[in-house]
Amino acid sequence: MTSGNGVAGLLLPDEVLVVDVGPRDGLQNEARPVSAAEKIALINGLARAGIRRIEATSFVSPKAVPQMADAAEVMAGIDRVAGVEYAVLVPNVRGLERALAAGAGIVNVVVVATETFNHRNVNMSVAESMAAFDTITREARTAGVPVSAVLGAAFVCPFEGSVPAEQVLGLVEQFAQTGITELTLADTIGAAHPAQVARLVTAIRERWPHLALGLHLHDTRGLGLANALAAVTAGVTRLEASVGGIGGCPFAPGATGNASTEDLVFMLEAMGVHTGISLEALIAVAQSVPAIVGHPVSSKMLAAGPPRPAPPAKTQT
Ligand code: COA
Ligand code: ZN
Repeated sequence: MTSGNGVAGLLLPDEVLVVDVGPRDGLQNEARPVSAAEKIALINGLARAGIRRIEATSFVSPKAVPQMADAAEVMAGIDRVAGVEYAVLVPNVRGLERALAAGAGIVNVVVVATETFNHRNVNMSVAESMAAFDTITREARTAGVPVSAVLGAAFVCPFEGSVPAEQVLGLVEQFAQTGITELTLADTIGAAHPAQVARLVTAIRERWPHLALGLHLHDTRGLGLANALAAVTAGVTRLEASVGGIGGCPFAPGATGNASTEDLVFMLEAMGVHTGISLEALIAVAQSVPAIVGHPVSSKMLAAGPPRPAPPAKTQT
């Protein structure tokens, strides 16, 4: 983290890991069935565009999320591009076993911060999910696969409203006790605002400076990129978005699209924050998304394209 890049008053990191969660968070919410072949092509396109971590699918109950029933087929069909981490989401030990058998590179395990939402999501209390998290973490560690903790609805819950910071910090404490090194705060219903993001990130970094923090962004109320900026200036090193801006949670009313990955990459690269991603190649992948999901998507980069670059500086003769 340096301030070498940036204007006075805006401390920006030199680089950020941009994670695309479109193949999972994006496609889990689509009514129209998407074939495994289309998912595989999407994931391969993202990898080739330079996305270094992709949430490829989830190993959840096909009754809960039928759109992810083909998780094993998708994982078996993708190219494993060197340098790309293929993450998957799991809700329980059964999911972990399926994920390990499929060769998942990282296992994302979610606990939602509030009882009502966690129950709707995984039919468990928060304490039961935390216990499952502990077991999954130990089994994954034995198998040599890293676990990434995700705290769902870390800011606002669609059922219980604003989530008190003390409640979140109590859950982070429980996560920390399992020895995790990575935590993602999820704004699952896109209701957080930048000051709330900066405050929570700062409070967590003060108490658990070793935790690599990520922010899972939704743009439901138009604050996705504002929250991303607040997060990186507060010390978040990983941002999760979705190609085309598709996404949402089937268990949360009104939870629409993620922040679009190409819009996020445009903002970061324009500010000199390195992502390693080719915006041009990513926009080309995003162009395939409306046909896959069968409706227009919210991406600004798809609508407007990147601005014309500045002309090369004239050299003095
Ligand atoms: N993968 C595949 N199948 C699974 C599974 C998994 N990880 N976990 C459970 N199942 C199956 C069971 O075998 C059972 O099948 P059956 O009825 O044919 O016997 C069925 O799903 C129900 O299992 P049960 O253990 O009773 O779970 P549940 O009904 O209480 O549901 C979850 C709990 C966690 C499995 C389910 O709520 C879930 O998958 N949630 C995922 C939510 C999600 O993806 N949210 C979005 C991302 S945060
Ligand atoms: Zn999400």
